Amino acid sequence: VMQELENYPPGMGEIEGVALLKGVCDVWDTVYNFQARDGDIVVASYPKSGTTWMQEILDLIVQDGDVEKSQRALGFIKVPFLEMGHTSLEVANTMPTPRVLKTHLPIQLMPPSFWEKDVKMVYIARNPKDCMVSYYYFYKMDQTLPDPETWDNFFSTFLKGSLAWGDWFDHVTGWWKARDEHKILYIFYEDMIEDSRRELCKVMRFLGKDFSEDVVKKILHHTSFKAMKANPMINFSVFSESIFDQSVSSFMRKGTVGDWKNHFLVSQNIIFDNEYKKKMEGSGLEFRTEV
Ligand code: A3P
Repeated sequence: VMQELENYPPGMGEIEGVALLKGVCDVWDTVYNFQARDGDIVVASYPKSGTTWMQEILDLIVQDGDVEKSQRALGFIKVPFLEMGHTSLEVANTMPTPRVLKTHLPIQLMPPSFWEKDVKMVYIARNPKDCMVSYYYFYKMDQTLPDPETWDNFFSTFLKGSLAWGDWFDHVTGWWKARDEHKILYIFYEDMIEDSRRELCKVMRFLGKDFSEDVVKKILHHTSFKAMKANPMINFSVFSESIFDQSVSSFMRKGTVGDWKNHFLVSQNIIFDNEYKKKMEGSGLEFRTEV
């Protein structure tokens, strides 16, 4: 408890050295003992990496491209957020198979039953500079998160690895190293922006699906940034301002690669590139900061 108080702002705690929301820490035993099922599909990511985009793609693939069915419930209900508390776990437990589940957990914190059931997982990763900018706006907009104060302050906290869900570098490299041992498909946000059809087809193949051109087109259309931004089932407009204050920043904010250039100072960019080099060296993992 003392450690939580000293190292983290109110509302934050940690599990095995990973910074997490206090609400996640409070239900941790239940989360860790979650029972995966055969046929479950997981979308995993560090926050702000395109999770919601991939979640909608996965749901549509599971629904064989039926857009009406994909509108059957709000996004965060049809795809429960694993570690977000008892309500989402109860929803998950009563859902029919096959379920699509969302998590931001670093790989070492995944509930063991996912490995026992050999569950298919799609990990979506985004270059850290755009991820950081997106997370900054999210922190400002999400009224349940601590106030990020200045961009400069947020930049330092990101590099320290003490934002919610921990260190970006550990997160992306942890999932990357495990991808051959488990059924993990590793997808990059930048690749999806560059060629969403190519990446959609990868995900379809991974899930053993093959659709007609018409269905592929329908999925691409429904999961475009424009369509998702306008879709009240997925754009979080149902959340009140006291939770997500979208007058500060929309959840579907920009959806581009390279917005970091409008935020990083020249000096921050130098510091970041140095840290990046040190921490990513030898990982074999490469990110593009422009397409
Ligand atoms: P920006 O803040 O840079 O716009 P997550 O779902 O993991 O929280 O990620 C949110 C980020 O993904 C936001 O980035 C959001 O705009 C972007 N995003 C969501 N849906 C998208 C889509 N269909 N196409 C491109 N980007 C999308």
